[in-house]
Amino acid sequence: MSVKILSITLLLLSVCVCCHSSEDTHGRGPGSKPPCCVDVTKDNMSADVVGQTYRELAARHHCVKAIIFNTKNGEQLCADPDAQWVKDLTAKMKKV
Ligand SMILES: *[C@@H]1O[C@H](CO)[C@@H](O)[C@H](O)[C@H]1NC(C)=O
Repeated sequence: MSVKILSITLLLLSVCVCCHSSEDTHGRGPGSKPPCCVDVTKDNMSADVVGQTYRELAARHHCVKAIIFNTKNGEQLCADPDAQWVKDLTAKMKKV
């Protein structure tokens, strides 16, 4: 009896882990570019930014430090982390 409950619990747990990992990979999606910005914009693009999340990128190799926003066109925008409009937006959004 208790063995049965245990195995059901384990089954449910593994289902949860499964869903979570597939959710994670789903977010990046096939065909999306690896997160890397070779250039950032200082221009106020807040009118084009959509969604409630942003991504923070550290500088490495030829990529520069950047904040990535999603835009209306379904594209990703590389923005300057030091620009005031970027700070204003990220303050209202959630980092992913
Ligand atoms: C950027 O533009 C938005 C709307 O287009 C405006 O509300 C915001 O104040 C601007 N931010 C800066 C720092 O200019």
